[in-house]
Amino acid sequence: MASRAATRAARSMMAMVGPRYFSTTAVRSDQTVAMKLLAGHVTGSGSHVRGVPSAGIFRLPVAGVRYSSTATVADVEEKKPETGSAGGGGPQEKGIVSYWGVQPRKVVKEDGTEWKWSCFMPWETYKADTSIDLKKHHAPTTFLDKMAYWTVKALRWPTDIFFQRRYGCRAMMLETVAAVPGMVGGMLLHCKSLRRFEHSGGWIKALLEEAENERMHLMTFMEVVKPRWYERALVFAVQGVFFNAYFLTYLISPKLAHRIVGYLEEEAIHSYTEFLKEIDNGNIENVPAPAIAIDYWRLPPNSTLRDVVMVVRADEAHHRDVNHFASDIHYQGRELKDAPAPLGYH
Ligand SMILES: [Fe+2]
Ligand SMILES: [Fe+2]
Repeated sequence: MASRAATRAARSMMAMVGPRYFSTTAVRSDQTVAMKLLAGHVTGSGSHVRGVPSAGIFRLPVAGVRYSSTATVADVEEKKPETGSAGGGGPQEKGIVSYWGVQPRKVVKEDGTEWKWSCFMPWETYKADTSIDLKKHHAPTTFLDKMAYWTVKALRWPTDIFFQRRYGCRAMMLETVAAVPGMVGGMLLHCKSLRRFEHSGGWIKALLEEAENERMHLMTFMEVVKPRWYERALVFAVQGVFFNAYFLTYLISPKLAHRIVGYLEEEAIHSYTEFLKEIDNGNIENVPAPAIAIDYWRLPPNSTLRDVVMVVRADEAHHRDVNHFASDIHYQGRELKDAPAPLGYH
């Protein structure tokens, strides 16, 4: 009896499981899709991007095995991505295979050599305009302007005490804050555009570009200065406070929020000027520029930390202009979307 019951149970299980695991129909259709996807990558081309025929041809049989066996799931999980400290790629990443057939495209520089970064692409790089007027200052006249000005001056006081003349560390830490306003402003304008069914005039992209640019300052300085555990803890706490404070300020008064950032950027220009003086005095060693900075700002290969600080300071001057301009638009009773955003203003 027991043996008959067991046989019935086994038959019933096979009837349910059979079509799913023993038919090749679904597998073949998946293979066809995978092959089509891979074939698409083989023929892809662009100004900086080239297809990789050898990689596509090599991966086809692998895709066949992958799509017809559940064992390959574990296989994928075992292959952890290997990334460099600065988001660079390289030959050691060859083992990463996507279950979904999404292959990274091979990107090359203008000189034909392989692009080593995955965190930014060659078409996002630029030559900084270092001829920008660094001394331009928005004189605070209204109550809100004075509030913004003195808020920034008050914030500078504890910063000066904490960092003294350690400008490398100071730059790295302040960039963790500087990259927040653009993201908050861009996010709020994005939501506003969705709520009101209206265009943003390019301001969402302009503010997100600013946030990304500031984050690249951080990615550069962390190659020169390594944060200590208590500095990481400080960033954690400051970000929690600053993100929420800026978010609320932007909701209540974007005019004030942009003015504050305008003055913060004026202070950043001052800090980087002091940084340059320390390098010129020999108090800070003028080490070779990090590779990420050379590629991001298209600097000559023999550039130094001084060259990097120069281009970063030029970036801060551009952010100063953009944010004072944004505040001025609000002062004139208009909305940001009424004035075309200064996209790609470096
Ligand atoms: Fe910055
Ligand atoms: Fe900045």
